[in-house]
Amino acid sequence: MIGKLNHVGVATPSIEESWKLYRDVLGVPADRITERRALPEQGVWVSFVNLPNSQIELIEPYGEASPIHGFLAKNPKGGQHHVCFEVPDIIAARDEMRAKGATVLGTGEPRMGAHGVPVIFVHPKDMGGVLVELMAEPEHAH
Ligand code: CO
Repeated sequence: MIGKLNHVGVATPSIEESWKLYRDVLGVPADRITERRALPEQGVWVSFVNLPNSQIELIEPYGEASPIHGFLAKNPKGGQHHVCFEVPDIIAARDEMRAKGATVLGTGEPRMGAHGVPVIFVHPKDMGGVLVELMAEPEHAH
C-alpha cells in the first residue's frame, strides 16, 4: 500500500511567477519556499513550497529535452502535473505496478528524484488520468 502523500507536482512556465501566487496570494512565508534549483538530468528546475503537511513541487522546463514541454504546450499557464506517494520499497512497488498491469514510464529503473531518493512514474492512463510518482520513503522525516 502507498504511504504518505509526499507532494503535488505543479508545472509552471515560470517558478518566479508561481512564487508570487503561493507567497503573495496564498500567504506562504518566504522562508518556507526553497530556492529554484536545476535538475539537469530530469530536465526541470524545481522549487518546493513547504506546507504543514505536504509540499507543492513547482517544476519549470530546463533545456530543450525537458519532459514537461508537452504538458505546458497543452496547459500554457501551467497546472497540476503529478501526485507523489511514498512507498517503503521502490523496486517492490515497481514490480507490483507491472504485475497489476500498470505502465511504468521509461525503462522502469528508478531514477534519483528531487528529494534525493529513487522514484518511478506510473502512466496516467492506468491511474485514472493522474500521473503518479512513487518515491522511496526518505530515511528522515522532512
Ligand atoms: Co515530483
